[in-house]
Amino acid sequence: MSAAPLLEVSGLAVAYGHVEALQGIDFRIDAGEIRTLVGANGAGKSTTLLALSGLVAPRAGTIRFDGEDITRMTPHRIVERGLIHVAEGRAILTTLTVRENLELGAYRRRDKAAVASDLERVLALFPRLKERIDGVAGNLSGGEQQMLAIARAMLAKPRLLLLDEPSMGLAPIVVQDIFRTLRTIHAEGLTIFLVEQNVRQALKLASHGYVIENGRIVLDGASTQLLDDPKVVAAYLGG
Ligand SMILES: Nc1ncnc2c1ncn2[C@@H]1O[C@H](COP(=O)(O)OP(=O)(O)O)[C@@H](O)[C@H]1O
Ligand SMILES: [Mg+2]
Repeated sequence: MSAAPLLEVSGLAVAYGHVEALQGIDFRIDAGEIRTLVGANGAGKSTTLLALSGLVAPRAGTIRFDGEDITRMTPHRIVERGLIHVAEGRAILTTLTVRENLELGAYRRRDKAAVASDLERVLALFPRLKERIDGVAGNLSGGEQQMLAIARAMLAKPRLLLLDEPSMGLAPIVVQDIFRTLRTIHAEGLTIFLVEQNVRQALKLASHGYVIENGRIVLDGASTQLLDDPKVVAAYLGG
């Protein structure tokens, strides 16, 4: 018998008016894992994360986090439980400094001494943010802004980090850098659910993958298996 999963989603369905964005999907994440949901533009990846965060209401299905039903909980209460979402397009505040953006990540926390040491730890992981700590966030490169969004989420003390396409719009070398950092964060104990169109990089990072097409999970397996699967290779890996 394995322990209960940290996150367990069953039959999750979301519609925007007549658009059935998610048609009943099932997946799970155990504590300490990185799992990924990969698929093309419009497949339903962001909708999945929005539903987990309480930002869109499911039409059907259940979402359980650490044994608790969070399906209809408010976004605020979901964040309090430690599900922290790095949205698509990063959403950093470009007129504030790097430090001010990072402080926003921690604003709900009462453990201020721990926040200060977490800030040091996060800046050690992201040396380029440390160099630019008092600069305006809008002057950062796209890759640095993505790093800032991840660093800010880490200051919210995630128990599960939800990442929406951190590779979007970035050069391959920058993507490598970000994925290397995610590997380090994971090695320090953080559980991660990553949604990506960059199927190769995502499956190389994660232990387990789900392939989503038109709101349905069509393949589900160990990442090593998916990387070798002829259907995945043909559709997503340019093989
Ligand atoms: N706010 C919205 N209103 C109507 N349709 C939407 C909205 N957001 C997303 N969709 C549609 O839902 C489907 C899934 O979108 P999304 O979850 O954003 O996909 P992905 O993140 O995989 O690109 C797409 O058909 C998209 O056009
Ligand atoms: Mg998306």
